[in-house]
Amino acid sequence: MSFAIEITELRKHYPGSWSPALDGLSLKVPENCIMGLLGPNGAGKTTTINIICGLVEPDSGRARIFGVDCIAHTTAVRSQIGVVPQQIALFPNLTATENFAYISTLYGIEKRYARERAGKLLSRLGLEKHADKRISNFSGGMKRRANIIASLLHYPQILILDEPTAGVDVQSRAMILDFIQEYKQDGKTVLYTSHLLDEAEKICDEVVIIDEGKFVTEGTPQQLVNKTPGCTDLEDVFLHYTGHSVRD
Ligand SMILES: Nc1ncnc2c1ncn2[C@@H]1O[C@H](COP(=O)(O)OP(=O)(O)O)[C@@H](O)[C@H]1O
Ligand SMILES: [Mg+2]
Repeated sequence: MSFAIEITELRKHYPGSWSPALDGLSLKVPENCIMGLLGPNGAGKTTTINIICGLVEPDSGRARIFGVDCIAHTTAVRSQIGVVPQQIALFPNLTATENFAYISTLYGIEKRYARERAGKLLSRLGLEKHADKRISNFSGGMKRRANIIASLLHYPQILILDEPTAGVDVQSRAMILDFIQEYKQDGKTVLYTSHLLDEAEKICDEVVIIDEGKFVTEGTPQQLVNKTPGCTDLEDVFLHYTGHSVRD
């Protein structure tokens, strides 16, 4: 089987923190799959994503995209991945169209092609009527959908989303989840983090649970429910492995 993302023994200890953010984490994401990266607050999900996209350098270990090392070949890897960060990464005083035009130039996408691509995505994510409005006038759900468009202008093979549905309205959430599933049907791979376990159970082909920077377990949601005693859904499985204590 070929893997879209392969992470091997990643370690990262931020200077000044008590414990490592990643403590020998390994995981593999098969091609053309929706993989959920699940874990409590502080488990290391965002650090993992930041290493994949070259924003954070690990202390040791490897991250590879289609076999290419993410740390040594950041530019090549960035052309293969679209990353939707947890925070909105758009210019609030520019319109959606202006944001996408600017981001497209960073990727070296030809203007005409960029406009066409942005137009298709705006329409698919229900924002075509708002294309010429400033991002600062968008609702939370609209900003989140625009953030997704910004990550996909270069039509990447892999879509990585960090908590894409946290704090969005029900309609935006449904549209985002539909869109993620559709992206996979187009032959692509999706890695997404969430703390909404019912959502992960619904859309993920496979999930991996991590805690304190370490691998805990993985499988299809159904496999995990079946193999974990006394569990009827993914939330039970999650609590079984990560405990009931609150993580702030
Ligand atoms: N820039 C940073 N500096 C210091 N500590 C950090 C930094 N980023 C994350 N951490 C710490 O690393 C751990 C993992 O964080 P993170 O990857 O954001 O987890 P998650 O996304 O699963 O909530 C946490 O303990 C967090 O406080
Ligand atoms: Mg996070």
